[in-house]
Amino acid sequence: MKPGPYPLGTPDHAWRAAHLHFSVFGRALTQRPFTQMHFEGDPLLTHDSVLHAAPGPAARRRLIATYTPAPLLPDAPASLTYHWNIVLGGPSPMVAPA
Ligand SMILES: [Fe+2]
Repeated sequence: MKPGPYPLGTPDHAWRAAHLHFSVFGRALTQRPFTQMHFEGDPLLTHDSVLHAAPGPAARRRLIATYTPAPLLPDAPASLTYHWNIVLGGPSPMVAPA
């Protein structure tokens, strides 16, 4: 399911781009990263203040799923599908390199 955008209710009438929230449970309560996945091609991506809080274009790009249309069945129209990986471990995508 693809959600719709929504207004933030701020004085500047800002909107959030369509996105999905993800939370991954670890072995302890403190091991629970949260993130958001956005959709490639969304015209609101350039205006989304939460997406632009990510430190740099590479970090922002990692928060945007790639549009990957594929037929679900032979001779069926392409589906509205996106590809996005959640990578656990390694350097944090939300921390700028020193
Ligand atoms: Fe949200």
